[in-house]
Amino acid sequence: MAASRDQWNSQIGFLFAAVGSAVGLGNIWRFSYMAYEHGGGAFLIPYVVALITCGIPLLVLEFGLGHERTGSAPLAFAKISRKAEFFGWWPVTFVMFGIVLYYCVIIAWCLNYCFYSLSFSWGNDPNGFFFKQFLKLPKGPMEISGINYNILLTTAIIWFLNWLIVFRGIGKGIEMANKIFMPLLFFLTIFLVFWALTLEGSTEGVIAYLKPDFQKISKIGVWIDAYSQIFFSLSLGFGIMIAYASYLPKNADISKNAIMTSIMDSLFAIVAGLGVFAVLGFMAHAKSLPISKVVTESIGLAFVAYPQALSIMPGGHFFGLIFFLSLVVAGLSSSISILEAFTSAVIDKFNMNRGFVVTIVCTVGFIGSIIFTTNAGLYWLDIVDHFITHYGLVVVGIAECIIGAWVFDISRLRRHINRTSSIKMPRVWDNIIRFFVPAILIIIVIGDLVAEIKAPYGGYSWFSLIMIGINWLLFTLIAAAFFTKFPWHYEYMLYAPDEENEEQ
Ligand code: PHE
Repeated sequence: MAASRDQWNSQIGFLFAAVGSAVGLGNIWRFSYMAYEHGGGAFLIPYVVALITCGIPLLVLEFGLGHERTGSAPLAFAKISRKAEFFGWWPVTFVMFGIVLYYCVIIAWCLNYCFYSLSFSWGNDPNGFFFKQFLKLPKGPMEISGINYNILLTTAIIWFLNWLIVFRGIGKGIEMANKIFMPLLFFLTIFLVFWALTLEGSTEGVIAYLKPDFQKISKIGVWIDAYSQIFFSLSLGFGIMIAYASYLPKNADISKNAIMTSIMDSLFAIVAGLGVFAVLGFMAHAKSLPISKVVTESIGLAFVAYPQALSIMPGGHFFGLIFFLSLVVAGLSSSISILEAFTSAVIDKFNMNRGFVVTIVCTVGFIGSIIFTTNAGLYWLDIVDHFITHYGLVVVGIAECIIGAWVFDISRLRRHINRTSSIKMPRVWDNIIRFFVPAILIIIVIGDLVAEIKAPYGGYSWFSLIMIGINWLLFTLIAAAFFTKFPWHYEYMLYAPDEENEEQ
């Protein structure tokens, strides 16, 4: 007999874990910049529309599938059709052998920067410090000449923490960690936001962040970005939410959990954005520069703009420590969800012992991360991330809708969800999953492909894009096919009891 499946100890534990996965580095530095670029407060319109028409329906689908089929993505899909199994393996493979490898290195940078904040190691040149001294970035991605050992060390610490948490399983590991991480992250963020709002000039920053410009949202590109942001931010299309929902008890409230997760994720992004822009406003004020001159995106924001602001801020050492610590916490709660998505898939299929699987997975993960700790690591992660998140994710999203709606029976899934959920999914949900979400995702892929052909991504050479990005994606495809080919340890696991007919 297969060992009985782990379970969450409480609904709130599950909710915290799902929010922990969703709230990550993306909420802190990706959302606020996107809002600023795309019409400030007006961006909330496409954002909320994307949330309601795509984010929540898809999250309900993932929770519903994981719960109804009681399995990680490969098991859940294989229980629908043996042919669908591959589309469960692919996402858990590309997050495990792609995304998490560099995600952990970025968390490691944040850990390094916790220490650097204590002495402002960046001196008066945070830009030079980050790119030249810290990363030792060469001219191009192919010019790898060495490992950054200080980054390797913090990366090892992050992998060790991942191992420690996931090793202990669902209730004692992931649930317990998130029950500490989520309230901690909440308090740290609120503390930082309030502090930031007291700084001189912060109001101008917040105004720049939220001032609505309705003209901008008439552009289709803004809508596409809003949909992709929702998709990435809710950790959809990775097989993560399917795995997490498979550990829910039978009578779990699926739709309420999905709605709460989405709302908390969005609120967190919007509130964190206030803090980000308050600090940028402060810096613009102190240096008498316009806001547009101090705003940067993603990595530049955390590792260049923020250090600049910290150096001139009263109490900057402490602010910096808390800021980078909250990034570490937000990152870790996401990275453990990635590991669990893959680990649970392997346990389901091969019936191996969790401790053994997690130890192997974390060792291989750490080794895989090494390439991103080299001096060319930033280029590598940029390229790999581009291909996996732009193509892998979206294709899996489309496959999920087709498998859930067309191969399986979407109205049957809706009945299953509504049986235990306090918020009933309306009939229109069926059609959203059948037609609307796939259509949006197809538009996103086409948009991406057109941009790709027009100009090579990020100004890299085609050679390096193919060698690093496309090959990486192909490697995950092959590995996923490989996992799919193996026989199931317990074949009978694939035959789900037909609950619906039993009850009628
Ligand atoms: N949702 C996370 C964020 O907003 C990103 C993430 C990606 C999490 C992949 C898990 C897996 O940052």
